[in-house]
Amino acid sequence: MKRLILILLLTLPLISNAIDLENGKKQARSCALCHGVYGQGTPGPASPRLAGTPAGYMVKEIEAYINEERINPRMVITSSLHSLSEEDIDDIAAYYESINLEKIRPGLGDIPQWPGNKEAGYEIYNEECKSCHRKNGMGKSRKGIPALALQYPRYLYRQIKMFQWDKRVHDDDPEDETFDDFTDRQIEDILAYVSSLAPNNKK
Ligand code: HEC
Ligand code: HEC
Repeated sequence: MKRLILILLLTLPLISNAIDLENGKKQARSCALCHGVYGQGTPGPASPRLAGTPAGYMVKEIEAYINEERINPRMVITSSLHSLSEEDIDDIAAYYESINLEKIRPGLGDIPQWPGNKEAGYEIYNEECKSCHRKNGMGKSRKGIPALALQYPRYLYRQIKMFQWDKRVHDDDPEDETFDDFTDRQIEDILAYVSSLAPNNKK
């Protein structure tokens, strides 16, 4: 009994900060124009998937767009990001994370297998990416690390170029050098491996 009370006390702050998925769904309507009705995104470089991706990461990115640490004025204006409350942002992220595209329609969650040398990509991923983005490529929500395995490779390719061109900060560290020495071929290889981790490409 004592234990139960302790558990209740420990979880109380979480309960009082309850996530409202219905509110998240309502607020997310303004995102559908670019990210798709279910947050599925499109295979191009400019419509990343949000469905099923770590909520902690999404919250961090939405705040980065609002604070102009990531630059995307069209998105900030179209969805009036400045008028969202902190609760709204938490709700939107939790709503998108909760979406299982395969349940909505089989195939909707598919990620194209990127051409390239998967084995070479595995070597690099295992050495240099796995510690943060995890072995299964699903990221870590609480640490704000994205799920590469659920994301469209053309979008990821573009983001890696942005890291190389110093137009976006990787790993919250302006001094980060992860991508400095990679050739385009090596990036293609990493993406070939990462996209092979998507559930539909797993053999
Ligand atoms: C006008 C089109 C547009 C609208 C509307 C829009 N977005 Fe975006 N969003 C984009 C584009 C384009 C990117 C990727 C661009 C970039 O930063 O490189 C993006 C990126 C993101 C990312 C980062 C994804 C990642 O993997 O890093 C998040 C999170 C996001 N949007 C959330 C939202 C939410 C939540 C809404 C609605 C409240 C929204 N967006 C509305 C166009 C839009
Ligand atoms: C020390 C931890 C760490 C390591 C190692 C790491 N990353 Fe990341 N990565 C992050 C974090 C944190 C972010 C989110 C950055 C942000 O908030 O904008 C990120 C973001 C990304 C993104 C952007 C995804 C998106 O949805 O926009 C890509 C692509 C990426 N990493 C690829 C890689 C690859 C490939 C490697 C290995 C070569 C790697 N990362 C190694 C921590 C790491």
